Amino acid sequence: MRTPLIAGNWKMNGDLALIDEFAGALKNTALPQGVQIALALPFPYLSAAHERLPDTVLLGAQTLNPADSGAFTGEVSGRMLKDVGASLVLVGHSERRSLYGEDDAAVLARVEAVLEIGLTPVLCIGETLEEREAGDTERVVLGQLEAVLSALSEGARQGLVIAYEPVWAIGTGRTASPEQAQAVHAAIRARLALWSASLADAMQLLYGGSMKAANAAELLAQPDIDGGLVGGASLQTDEFLAICQSAG
Ligand code: G3H
Repeated sequence: MRTPLIAGNWKMNGDLALIDEFAGALKNTALPQGVQIALALPFPYLSAAHERLPDTVLLGAQTLNPADSGAFTGEVSGRMLKDVGASLVLVGHSERRSLYGEDDAAVLARVEAVLEIGLTPVLCIGETLEEREAGDTERVVLGQLEAVLSALSEGARQGLVIAYEPVWAIGTGRTASPEQAQAVHAAIRARLALWSASLADAMQLLYGGSMKAANAAELLAQPDIDGGLVGGASLQTDEFLAICQSAG
């Protein structure tokens, strides 16, 4: 069976006080065995989180530059992220795609860079409302998936986590219904099975988009939903830990 993974994405939010609050709450919360917890933090907080949080909380970044080093003012490489304790990197989040122009080629370059340095890319894919209403959901989502996975070796594909995040559900309070989310997750897993059955069986598929304590259990009960990528609710420590509890 696949290990459930609940990953918080703080986006450009949070501070040192929130890391300490989270560390304190973790000590007082019984979490189910076998649930992986991760936090994708703004770059400046990774070192502090590495020092202040237990190793059981995987740390992640929200993007990276695919180069190893060089004259790229303002950018951060995978090697640097690894140095400060990151083990995951979100790649292709819809905000990166829409606000910073990251197309499939840019997403692929970043996934390759994350794999190259030995970290885990969390590849984010998802359709807009317009695309869903046009009946294009699977074409868009599977297209984003294929643009990356077709270019990777079978071994490299095994190193990914995939997050399905319908853009219309991100930060809107409008969650995909469990049935809508399950249908897309099942389509993703079926596509993975065309590469290999073992890849499809092993791949952790996360759902993201207005996940909160009140809807997490029903989403996480779906057979092809293995966890969550949680934005807004990850900034509320109690809410986030309640989501983690419902993954057990
Ligand atoms: O990365 C997280 C997703 O964008 C979901 O964000 O939970 O605030 O809708 P949200």
